[in-house]
Amino acid sequence: MKRKASITRLVMTVLIVAGGAFLSSCEQYSWAKQEIPQELTVSFSETIAPFCQGCHGAWSTDRVYDKLSANVDTVTPASSRVLSIHSSITAFGSQMLQVDTLLIAAPDVIKLWASQGAEKN
Ligand code: HEC
Repeated sequence: MKRKASITRLVMTVLIVAGGAFLSSCEQYSWAKQEIPQELTVSFSETIAPFCQGCHGAWSTDRVYDKLSANVDTVTPASSRVLSIHSSITAFGSQMLQVDTLLIAAPDVIKLWASQGAEKN
């Protein structure tokens, strides 16, 4: 009886430790939000326009700029209308864009660009 109890305790300990290790490894890979350096400059013409044109292929770069700048909020980028339009109808948010050497989720790239003044750069 006593032996059985200690085996049970051992099994529980192993499960807790393994579970903890599993959860913390998840955190490392998918829960932790990637740090985006604020000095990173997002280029409208190199990064954002080609992304938009991937779906809105008929829009010229000028038209994409007009559509986008009319729908971003430079003061509170997270509440930009372009994000809410797309979150309801497309898988826009799961796309990753390359900025410099980093891969960043499309909505974060747009928010960063908006926070930098939404320039036609
Ligand atoms: C994954 C595909 C996809 C991407 C990428 C995408 N869109 Fe859209 N967008 C759509 C779809 C689908 C609609 C809804 C149907 C429509 O109105 O064409 C839409 C609608 C819109 C609308 C509202 C309708 C209109 O014509 O005014 C705007 C504005 C818009 N998109 C701008 C953009 C901008 C700017 C980008 C780049 C930041 C972008 N979209 C990237 C698929 C996409």
